[in-house]
Amino acid sequence: MPRRSPQITVMINAAIKCARGLQRDFGEVENLQVSKKGPADFVSAADIKAERVLHAELARARPDYGFLLEESGVIAGSDSESRWIVDPLDGTTNFLHGIPHFAISIGLERAGRMVAGVIYDPLRNELFWAEDGIGAFLNDHRLRVSAREELGEAVIGTGMPFKGRESHPEYCDQLERIMGRVAGIRRMGSAALDLAYVAAGRYDGFWEYGLSPWDIAAGMILVTEAGGLINEIGGGRDLLASGDVIATNSHLHEPIGRLIENRGR
Ligand code: IPD
Ligand code: CA
Ligand code: CA
Repeated sequence: MPRRSPQITVMINAAIKCARGLQRDFGEVENLQVSKKGPADFVSAADIKAERVLHAELARARPDYGFLLEESGVIAGSDSESRWIVDPLDGTTNFLHGIPHFAISIGLERAGRMVAGVIYDPLRNELFWAEDGIGAFLNDHRLRVSAREELGEAVIGTGMPFKGRESHPEYCDQLERIMGRVAGIRRMGSAALDLAYVAAGRYDGFWEYGLSPWDIAAGMILVTEAGGLINEIGGGRDLLASGDVIATNSHLHEPIGRLIENRGR
């Protein structure tokens, strides 16, 4: 059983408390699919409620820390070094459509570095967590990225651009270059869980453009602590700001990066 620090315990407890409400609300969503108005307003209320719970729990435990919250934005703390980066519901489109794949994501940044992360899938009761220098875990089991070296055996997660996003043609080119070389591509609809799946060795890699800090903060430390690599596509140095993510095991970073960026064979 891994030792859980007070700090990760605060994060896990907040995620579990928040999950209770989301689980209850997800049960309701199914009933609302057939109503004329649909579940959209209900889901955005559920999202805001979930964020309130996380904010209250984390602020109670660490009153000095700041926040970057998806719904409420930046809340400064008196400790300017430490902030929570929070997505109360990652996978909103899935949630809205009654598709059981979504998560709560909480990252802790200190002095510009991610030091702890929790990604909780409440429907599967899968709690992914990691702490700087301690390791990455799924519930109580240690996580390692996959050992696959062959592209042809790899399963790669991705996020496709949707309505309102640019670069659809460029994305289609990337997909075409990659899909013919790998065992399978998955687009499951929660970037936080995508990164957790890389950490767990379920995916051998993942890429998506234009993600937000709250989609990736917790996943960054999970992938690193599981022995994987997570970087900005194109080699830039501010992944949280750009949100252009490539995450892989240590063998496949170069070949997948080359295909995404079209740098030849
Ligand atoms: C979204 C999910 C999705 C990704 C989108 C994100 P949300 O987050 O992570 O997988 O493709 O870019 O915005 O809106 O469900 O919190
Ligand atoms: Ca998100
Ligand atoms: Ca969200």
